[in-house]
Amino acid sequence: MNQPESNNAQELVLALSKGRIFDETIPLLQEAGIQVLEDPETSRKLILPTNQPTVRVIIVRASDVPTYVQYGAADFGVAGKDVLQEHSSAGLYQPIDLHIAKCRLSVAVRENFDYDAAIKQGSRLRVASKYVQAAREHFAKKGVHVDLIKLYGSMELAPLVGLADVIVDLVSTGNTLKANNLVEVEKIQEITSRLIVNQASLKLKRQLLQPIMEAFKKASIQLN
Ligand code: ATP
Ligand code: PRP
Ligand code: MG
Repeated sequence: MNQPESNNAQELVLALSKGRIFDETIPLLQEAGIQVLEDPETSRKLILPTNQPTVRVIIVRASDVPTYVQYGAADFGVAGKDVLQEHSSAGLYQPIDLHIAKCRLSVAVRENFDYDAAIKQGSRLRVASKYVQAAREHFAKKGVHVDLIKLYGSMELAPLVGLADVIVDLVSTGNTLKANNLVEVEKIQEITSRLIVNQASLKLKRQLLQPIMEAFKKASIQLN
């Protein structure tokens, strides 16, 4: 009979999301001598073996990585600061800034929207974002009243179709804003991805985790 797939004391489960987090974590894993044996872009499998019998990778949505690690379904994971600050940090240890998936969280508006004038007039702003906590905090600090509209993606569309005056979204090259006739009017914060570790795993599986954490730390400094 097949063994049930579960997280046990002799193995480590690493939670990653497909795309840039997976791609940019590969060189860090390589430094730790770990090679993922299947490509999540072509495989439909959600549990991927590695060249080390004690390490498996699970593929989850970027915003679900902290949840898997928090509940101990994964021992460790890689998640953006943007995701982490929208999530409870209970049970999570955040030891290393990996300096990967670099971008910034910014405020953007339509080219013809006078953001400064709206702020000066004390207008109430409609703000659409996936990052409602960060957006709420940013505008509260500025003393600007906002109505927040939670979205799960394609934020750039919201000001174009009258859903919102303003968006709070991630910007890297600025190409997505430009393609949609939007302009960045405020940079809220720099974003990178972090290693997150389940606090119980850190105690109980320290021997397995420690060398990987050391290698990640070294590689993140060397490579980025
Ligand atoms: P989902 O696909 O579940 O909606 P997502 O769009 O957040 O999630 P990714 O686009 O892979 O998933 O982003 C993962 C992380 O990479 C983000 O949380 C953020 O920290 C970072 N990131 C997002 N967009 C960029 C970008 N354009 N350049 C660099 N880093 C980015
Ligand atoms: C992210 C983010 C922005 C875009 C910014 O989208 O949500 O839309 O990158 O990057 P840029 O400034 O270099 O254009 P992503 O590429 O992750 O696509 P998604 O909509 O699938 O999340
Ligand atoms: Mg994305």
